[in-house]
Amino acid sequence: MYPEDIAGLIHPALAVVFVFPLLGIVVNYAWQTRQRRLSAKEGGKSKIPASVGSEHLKLGRWLSNAVVGLTLIGLAHPIFTKMTKNQVWSQDSFRAWFIVLMFVATIASLVMLNRARTKLWRAVFATLTGMGLVILGSQPEVFRRGFEWYVSHYYYGITAAMLMIFSLAIIPDIYQDRTNRWRNVHVILNCLALLFFLGQGMTGTRDLLEIPLSWQASHIGKCDFTNLTCPP
Ligand code: HEM
Ligand code: HEM
Repeated sequence: MYPEDIAGLIHPALAVVFVFPLLGIVVNYAWQTRQRRLSAKEGGKSKIPASVGSEHLKLGRWLSNAVVGLTLIGLAHPIFTKMTKNQVWSQDSFRAWFIVLMFVATIASLVMLNRARTKLWRAVFATLTGMGLVILGSQPEVFRRGFEWYVSHYYYGITAAMLMIFSLAIIPDIYQDRTNRWRNVHVILNCLALLFFLGQGMTGTRDLLEIPLSWQASHIGKCDFTNLTCPP
């Protein structure tokens, strides 16, 4: 394996080793938070400790930041490898530096979203973080699988990341709302996010199978991807 192949493993390895286990813990706490609240509502005494809600929130914050970070790494690898290969740094240096700036701006917006308290600033930084991901994702170096968008690792990933950004933005609303409207919005959207995460597990492993090692790429490039055949 060459260094560029190893660099391509950073994103999937982080997903498997860090993000997915974290997701499991967050979902476990989510389930307990709901069970505890429902049993308290019925007047019962739950065995579940009162800390599950704040543990869910603490690790939920980690999860949403990790997912946005993972998405940025997933985008950075194809963008920077292909840009270097196609000499974009010298031939279109404006776009190259614009992309660097977009990475920095997206990370800065995410940091600010974590710190923002008022509704307005939470909305502003959530929008900026989401816009950063979409702008970076629309670069020509990113393989979006438009011809099979319904099983695209890119579209699933961006949607899951958007839902995580939204989760970060509405935290105070969940607590302030006595009617539980925001709580229910959160539960519905994040159950949907859970499905997208499952999708990421499947489409990501498929993509690992499809992407050739760098020394095999020129040979695999001769294959006919429509009729699924390769020259002998
Ligand atoms: C796939 C991921 C997630 C799922 C499935 C999920 C689901 C849930 C569920 C079922 C509840 C309990 C609702 C109830 O009381 O009826 C809850 C509460 C909550 N969630 Fe999540 N959630 C996820 C991720 C997140 C993230 C990423 C954050 C923050 C960034 C977050 C913040 C909260 C907060 C603040 C509460 C209220 C906790 C409390 O009552 O103390 N969740 N979530
Ligand atoms: C939370 C979960 C994940 C998110 C949000 C995510 C997001 C992304 C995004 C946005 C891209 C760039 C677009 C693309 O090339 O498709 C990408 C690339 C990729 N992802 Fe993921 N991903 C996740 C999990 C995984 C997992 C579990 C694997 C495999 C085990 C994986 C393998 C890959 C591969 C192989 C690429 C192509 C990278 C390249 O071209 O160098 N991803 N991911």
